[in-house]
Formats: sequence, C-alpha cells, structure tokens
Amino acid sequence: MQTLSELQARVNQYLLTNLADDIDEATLSAAMNYSVDAGGKRLRPTMTLMVAQILGVELNSDVLRAACALELLHTYSLIHDDLPAMDNDDLRRGKPTSHKQFGEAIAILAGDGLLTLAFQWLTDNQLSSNVKARLTLELSKAAGPAGMVVGQVRDILATGETLSIEQLQKLHAQKTGALLEYATVAGGVIAEVDDEVSDELANFGALYGLAFQIYDDILDVTATSSDLGKATHKDAERGKNSYPALLGLPGAEKKLSQVLTAAKVSQERLTTLTQADFTGLDELLAYYN
Ligand code: IPE
Ligand code: IPE
Ligand code: MG
Ligand code: MG
Ligand code: MG
Repeated sequence: MQTLSELQARVNQYLLTNLADDIDEATLSAAMNYSVDAGGKRLRPTMTLMVAQILGVELNSDVLRAACALELLHTYSLIHDDLPAMDNDDLRRGKPTSHKQFGEAIAILAGDGLLTLAFQWLTDNQLSSNVKARLTLELSKAAGPAGMVVGQVRDILATGETLSIEQLQKLHAQKTGALLEYATVAGGVIAEVDDEVSDELANFGALYGLAFQIYDDILDVTATSSDLGKATHKDAERGKNSYPALLGLPGAEKKLSQVLTAAKVSQERLTTLTQADFTGLDELLAYYN
C-alpha cells in the first residue's frame, strides 16, 4: 500500500513528465505548466489513487493519467478564481497568480486549456470504454453548471449579502465539495464497484469536501500568507460568505468537527460494505489536525 506522500510524488512526476507533450505553443505551455508545477497539495488525484488502491486496483500509468486529469481541472479553477473579475488575487501556490505573470488573456486561455486537457487525459488512456464514459459523465457533472461552476456563481452573486447557513452549506458543497466527491467516486469507478459502494464513496467525498471548504475559510482567518502560499484575511474584507463570518471562529470549528465525525462514520461503513481496509483514508482526514 502506498502512502499519501508516495502517491503525491507519483502525481507530481506524472504531471511534470506528461503535461508539455499535449500543448502546441510555447507561451501557452509555459502558462499551463507554471500553474501546475507551482505545486499544491495534490489532494484530489491522490484521493482517487488512494481509494482505487484500497479497492485493489493496480496503479498503472492509465490510472495515473485519469487521476491526474482532476488536478488539471482543479488548477484551471484556481487560475480563473484568482482573476481580477473574480477574487482578484495576486498570489497562488506561493507564486504570482497566472494573470500577474502572463496577463489576463493568457491566464484565461491557460485555464481553458487545462479544463479541456482534463477530459482528453480522462479518455486518452487504456482504461475500459465503460470506465472512461462513466468518469467523463461524473467529472462533467461535478465541474459544470450543477457543480463547481454554479458554486462559484453563487459565491460571486452572494458577495456582500448574508446567506443562511443552509445556503452557505449548499454553496460550499458545490464550489468545493463536488470535485472532492468526484475524486472519491472516480476511485470507485476505476475499481468498478457496485452502486451501494459508489453512493457511500460519494457520501464520504461530499463530507470531506464540505469539511475542506470550512477549513479553507478558517485558515483564511487564522493562517498567514506564507503558511498557505496565497493571500489570507481576504474573505471578510471582501464581504465573502464564510463559516467564520456566519458562525464565528468557534462555531466554524465546531461545525468542522461535526462534519469530520460524519466522514469517519462513512469511512467505517465503506470498510463494512467492501471488506477492504479503508484506514488509508485516515491520512487524508489527518489534513485537518
Ligand atoms: C484551494 O484548493 C481552493 C479551494 C477549493 C478551497 P487547495 O487547498 O486544494 O489548493 P492546492 O491545490 O493545494 O493549491
Ligand atoms: C475557490 O474557493 C474554489 C474554487 C476554485 C472552485 P476560494 O476562493 O475560497 O479559494 P481560495 O481561498 O482563493 O484558494
Ligand atoms: Mg473564490
Ligand atoms: Mg479565491
Ligand atoms: Mg478561500
């Protein structure tokens, strides 16, 4: 069984070796590689790989390619999230944001390129046609106008207004939860699990994703820019809806711990349902400690 950091290293290696091959112009290649190579925790593809290996899948280069597609798509979402028309941020993954480095037009197009290349990598591999079709459907739904994109729209439209906690939870589930839910579901799709297991993987991923955005909101208040490689203390300043804004810091921390408890229950249910050892997910949950 490979650990999270071993899987992370494999993701980095795969991205570093393969990204340039599929880009046909030097400036575009520089911009796409700049944001991907900047690093990041690689949480989403490592989640897919972790779930797949727990379910007995051999992590060959086809599985890696499909898993890394999600990191391309996630990186696109960060480039666009940082644009002046959106969050207007200057620092990402410890470096100037894409539009600061390359200008807005190239940053937008680098994002477009990463989004599109994600679907190429998802299908340009030797996994079975059924698995590829299912991954494509699930990722389109998670990333698109009923998933991450609509979450970003809700985030923008609600800036300066106060949402209810239910509305904020829905926003977070879409903006951040959808891609993390996809990350776990994709591991199950590759392992060809049944519907019951797939539903529980979705449940775990959705809870993990909600916890993740609550924690991102908490870190915006409590961490420093050099800790995170991106600006902090920006949500309150910009009138963004966040858990600390709505519930206060202690309330946000309490909500985070409730969601993590529910994720733990889901993790145990996965072990019961599959007879596989899902304790490997502990390493992912430890991100919040
Ligand atoms: C940041 O995601 C954006 C959110 C969804 C909150 P990550 O915290 O996973 O960013 P990287 O990939 O490590 O840079
Ligand atoms: C970004 O959420 C979520 C997506 C990119 C989909 P945030 O705007 O809170 O992320 P950070 O704090 O800039 O990383
Ligand atoms: Mg944002
Ligand atoms: Mg942002
Ligand atoms: Mg944030």
